[in-house]
Amino acid sequence: MSKKIFSGVQPSGNLHLGNYLGAIKNFVELQNEKNTECVYCIVDLHAITVKQDPKELRRNIRETLAAFIASGLNENKSIIFNQSSVPAHSECAWILSCIARMGWLNRMTQFKEKAGKDKEKASVGLYAYPVLMAADILLYDTTHVPVGDDQKQHLELCRDIAQRFNNDFEAPNFLKVPEPLIQKHFSRIMSLKDGEKKMSKSDESDLSRINLTDDKDKIINKIKKAKTDTMPMPKKDENFKNRPEALNLLEIYSSLSNQSLEKSCDEFAGKNFSFFKEKLSYLIVEKIEPISKEIKRLLNEEKHLDKILLEGGEKANEFASTKVKEMKKIIGF
Ligand code: TYM
Repeated sequence: MSKKIFSGVQPSGNLHLGNYLGAIKNFVELQNEKNTECVYCIVDLHAITVKQDPKELRRNIRETLAAFIASGLNENKSIIFNQSSVPAHSECAWILSCIARMGWLNRMTQFKEKAGKDKEKASVGLYAYPVLMAADILLYDTTHVPVGDDQKQHLELCRDIAQRFNNDFEAPNFLKVPEPLIQKHFSRIMSLKDGEKKMSKSDESDLSRINLTDDKDKIINKIKKAKTDTMPMPKKDENFKNRPEALNLLEIYSSLSNQSLEKSCDEFAGKNFSFFKEKLSYLIVEKIEPISKEIKRLLNEEKHLDKILLEGGEKANEFASTKVKEMKKIIGF
């Protein structure tokens, strides 16, 4: 059976190693699988749920596209576009917001984290965000959604919304109920400064993450400064519970070298962290520096980038506008 893949990344700047290992690296693998159709979206409508500077947003949309291409996505193999260029996303999101229940959205932990203490001041968009995400996915009859672990709850909501729509309108299977594709291992990369906090674009400290635009010196410096503990490198059967930083760095190493955590533990057990950190920096530089250089090169080719988005938008629009038309008919419009 053929697979239909959809995933999205916010153009909110500072794309990092977590985005790469948790999502983009898998986008590329799926793009190269047989019988698999991929749609990858730069979700600019999601980005404006928090305040954005228009100039920076425009730049970040291009930078996210450049990061996709530099990581190995190919506009001739996948549909790559930005969300705001396909009106069906907003239209479908409104329809689905009349299907989703307040109670379901009230359970979303990411809203609670992002809104912080002052929920009253968060935008309505930030609250309704997972409904837009469901629209993104459901418009394309998506079968699988590759994401990092932090998006799991949003995908469960998307499944609930699809089922509820199909039931309410007695339209069995009209909206396809998608499966999450979350890697068993390495789907949650943690901050370099705190092994219990997710690596994140919005962390104030740039030292907490490796950005996809970091050069060699920055990468080496950040790994040198990454938090560790005072014990030697752990063995594979050791309890990592009190050593989240050691586990995170070993997971990054394993994911980048496509080997199991056990194998990486065997490689470094008993050695000191400075030895391991040198090898880790070397590996990150080897994998990330070419991407970083290519992003910078592509950013000088604005016309080329804009053309990719324009053409991708046209292809996406063809599919999504038909789906939303059918949806409106089912509803009674
Ligand atoms: P966003 O832009 O926050 O992140 C993009 C992708 O990167 C993954 N990710 C991580 N993976 C591992 N470790 C981390 N520290 C880490 N940080 C981020 C995310 O899980 C995600 O896969 N709501 C989504 C964007 C979205 C979307 C969609 C995704 C909008 N519509 C439809 C899939 C399908 C988001 O904010 O991702």
